[in-house]
Amino acid sequence: MAHPTSPRPSASPPPGARPGAPADRAGAADNAGAPGSAASARGLVKTYGQGETTVRALDGVDVDFRAAELTAIMGPSGSGKSTLMHCLAGLDTPTSGSVVIGGTEVSRLSQRRLTALRRTRIGFVFQSYNLVPTLTAAENITLPLDIARAPVDRAWFDEVVAAVGLGDRLHHRPSELSGGQQQRVACARALVSRPSVVFADEPTGNLDSRSSAEVLGFLRRSVDELGQTVVMVTHDPRAASYAHRVLFLTDGRITADLAAPTRRDILDALGQAEED
Ligand SMILES: Nc1ncnc2c1ncn2[C@@H]1O[C@H](COP(=O)(O)OP(=O)(O)OP(=O)(O)O)[C@@H](O)[C@H]1O
Ligand SMILES: [Mg+2]
Repeated sequence: MAHPTSPRPSASPPPGARPGAPADRAGAADNAGAPGSAASARGLVKTYGQGETTVRALDGVDVDFRAAELTAIMGPSGSGKSTLMHCLAGLDTPTSGSVVIGGTEVSRLSQRRLTALRRTRIGFVFQSYNLVPTLTAAENITLPLDIARAPVDRAWFDEVVAAVGLGDRLHHRPSELSGGQQQRVACARALVSRPSVVFADEPTGNLDSRSSAEVLGFLRRSVDELGQTVVMVTHDPRAASYAHRVLFLTDGRITADLAAPTRRDILDALGQAEED
């Protein structure tokens, strides 16, 4: 069993895609990635510290994330997964190399444009939900757009809320929601601007298996039914088996790339990584 949801549609553009949306809101098109990719990195290097204490967290990563695909990233602790996500999402600056999101080269943007890009073209889901406790679920979901003073597309908001299964919880605050519900609010918040790509760093890391399944099912549906592009870090082979593709990172490099793997394939690849 590769994943418990429907097979991905082959149609392109994906259902729900808005023609021309990725590039036109974020500025000049500067497509250094492969055609059809929602996000790309070339020669990505990130070092921390200097001299003898230098850590090379990313050691030359080249990757393309195809649109309307769910990609999982796995790898040992310290292999650079979070660093990769942060550099791709413009939350951290690579030491060298380039990142292109929806046709825009992130490293060339001014701080102001980068902030705008992060609010409208990139969604990020953290392990710890990061919801604002004083706001309702609905207010949390629209917060990035409200801050950016960007309009909320109500039809899309309704679609995301329906897909995430939160219709009757919209006016609750985070403390009145379960962990799984809070993480689904965080996923809806990441999706509401209809970003080029959603990055999720261990989105189910704090959840029990039932809540994990809820969140993973939603992320997969957002790809299959809403045409989103999602990149998710996980340590859990079951979570990774929801993905169309699984990348393995070792010491800051991509060392394996599996298409539509089953849980067994993933366990085998992990076993192989441990033996190398
Ligand atoms: N701000 C920082 N300063 C110095 N070193 C850092 C910093 N952030 C990360 N590192 C180092 O970079 C390497 C990669 O870290 P990263 O957090 O990307 O790993 P990870 O694969 O996400 O690990 P985990 O599975 O534990 O979350 C590690 O050696 C880490 O110690
Ligand atoms: Mg990490």
